[in-house]
Amino acid sequence: MEDEEERFRRKIGPGSHEVRLHSLSSTRRPLKSWTPAAVFASFVVIVLCGSVVSWLDIFVFPGISSRQMITAKGGQGEPPQKMEFPLNCTNSSTVPQTCPKNYPTKHEPEESYAVVCPEYFRWIHEDLRPWKSMGITREMMERTKNIAHFRLVIKNGKAYIEHYKRPFQTRDLGTIWGILQLLRLYPGKVPDLELMFYCNDRPMIMKNHYQGPNAGSPPPLFHYCGNETSLDILFPDWSFWGWHEVNIRTWTNTYQAIKEKAKEMEWKDRIPYAYWKGNPGVSANRQGLMTCNATEEHDWNARLYVQNWAAESREGFKESRLEDQCIHRYKIFVEGKAWSVSDKYILACDSTTLLIEPVYHDFFLRGMLPMEHYWPVRLNNKCRDIKFAVEWGNNHIKEAQAIGERGSRFLGENLKMKYVYDYMLHLLVEYVKLLKFTPEVPVGATEYCAEAMACPVGGLFRANMEDSMVKSPSESLPCALPPPYDPRELQGFMERKRNYTRLLEELGG
Ligand SMILES: *[C@@H]1O[C@H](CO)[C@@H](O)[C@H](O)[C@H]1NC(C)=O
Ligand SMILES: *[C@@H]1O[C@H](CO)[C@@H](O)[C@H](O)[C@H]1NC(C)=O
Ligand SMILES: *[C@@H]1O[C@H](CO)[C@@H](O)[C@H](O)[C@H]1NC(C)=O
Ligand SMILES: *[C@@H]1O[C@H](CO)[C@@H](O)[C@H](O)[C@H]1NC(C)=O
Ligand SMILES: *[C@@H]1O[C@H](CO)[C@@H](O)[C@H](O)[C@H]1NC(C)=O
Repeated sequence: MEDEEERFRRKIGPGSHEVRLHSLSSTRRPLKSWTPAAVFASFVVIVLCGSVVSWLDIFVFPGISSRQMITAKGGQGEPPQKMEFPLNCTNSSTVPQTCPKNYPTKHEPEESYAVVCPEYFRWIHEDLRPWKSMGITREMMERTKNIAHFRLVIKNGKAYIEHYKRPFQTRDLGTIWGILQLLRLYPGKVPDLELMFYCNDRPMIMKNHYQGPNAGSPPPLFHYCGNETSLDILFPDWSFWGWHEVNIRTWTNTYQAIKEKAKEMEWKDRIPYAYWKGNPGVSANRQGLMTCNATEEHDWNARLYVQNWAAESREGFKESRLEDQCIHRYKIFVEGKAWSVSDKYILACDSTTLLIEPVYHDFFLRGMLPMEHYWPVRLNNKCRDIKFAVEWGNNHIKEAQAIGERGSRFLGENLKMKYVYDYMLHLLVEYVKLLKFTPEVPVGATEYCAEAMACPVGGLFRANMEDSMVKSPSESLPCALPPPYDPRELQGFMERKRNYTRLLEELGG
């Protein structure tokens, strides 16, 4: 167990030490603190070996040279004693659960290194562009009150929620939990705000309702996914903090479990077919994919299985463990009703992801590139494209394997929890810059804190909260937000994506 934790810490690196990636095992020991020098050294190594090198050929940030990317001050001497604030439940049915008053409201990290955020952060500017010139009035925000699931208010570093509707399962609570952890990670850095949040599957704010000379401004609505015709503002979904209803642990734990398991079988030794397992009932695209399953007459090189969640739930989720699904060389991703949280679990195995052309996207998928991180499959040519991809990959093992590795590495480097929080922080800070009103706590809103949420619940819901709880403020700064795309640059990026699909057509897949 000790070894496992050590290895994990080395691999994920210091960027996550303040996010407390504990409880990889059932033993709960505090992680050894890093000396500032060691943290800095590893950061340089990680930045130089990992993200930057692979970014450089893809991403060019105007105005930011790689030399400006890291600045450090201090870094010598004894590591500062780290204060921890674990969950403090009253454990009593008579004493009401209160929100602790001793958590810091401000924190200046000892060392300051600002690494530039991953490329996909640039979409924050795109998501907020509709309000760039006019700003956001209270009236615009209130307009979504009848569709939003909750209103989030942050005032002096505290979170207040006004609930409007119950979404599917506990999506709203998972999201609120994540926001509370953001406040704990960066005390004093999240500005006062009010926003409306929508938790169901499909995007709600459609571009074409707000076009033309007499069209009003669109209302800002935070949500997990968007598509080409929507204006929803994208925010990380609840599953990063776990999805207890289907036995999924926090993203950090799941990613680690998948990587550990994937290491046991080399790519070339895996089953040389394309695998998918899930619930095909939720969308026509998934139904369509089922026609690519191998039959007596025809083998499209796909091996597809139906996940029966009800039976899985009865039988303890033995057949649905995500870490057990990395035994095929290729894994298929197909959307559900809208975006699917499974994208990250599928891409995490270093099997090669065959990504069926998505219509919807979450906040990070927009930064991933075909052939670089996944193999694109056309929606209207699924079976043939899958067959072709598998044949091609089995004949070009090195190249196919490299796509799988790059996809998995993208997540390990660019989607670690530190960056998920940084994305949330930058998005909220940029959003607040547009507000033309003073945020107020509405009558009837409830104050939320970690204790109020976690203490009353048990089971995996509770375990996920404990595992993802931020116990101390971050000792490193948020990454530096890269500038907006200029329109030509963005066009080039989109064109590059489209070109790969064209290439595929020419290859005759
Ligand atoms: C836990 O909360 C109680 C009051 O509810 C307080 O007396 C105690 O000091 C807290 N413990 C920690 C470790 O913060
Ligand atoms: C509540 O119970 C936990 C676990 O048994 C314990 O660690 C904690 O100190 C208790 N809290 C209080 C306030 O007694
Ligand atoms: C985007 O999502 C909305 C809501 O589901 C849908 O009506 C619209 O057709 C989608 N746009 C595209 C381009 O698929
Ligand atoms: C696909 O084929 C395999 C092997 O014949 C079978 O076990 C599986 O149930 C089939 N999947 C679906 C969705 O029909
Ligand atoms: C996309 O393909 C077109 C035609 O082949 C080419 O002219 C263009 O430069 C490519 N664009 C990018 C961004 O690669």
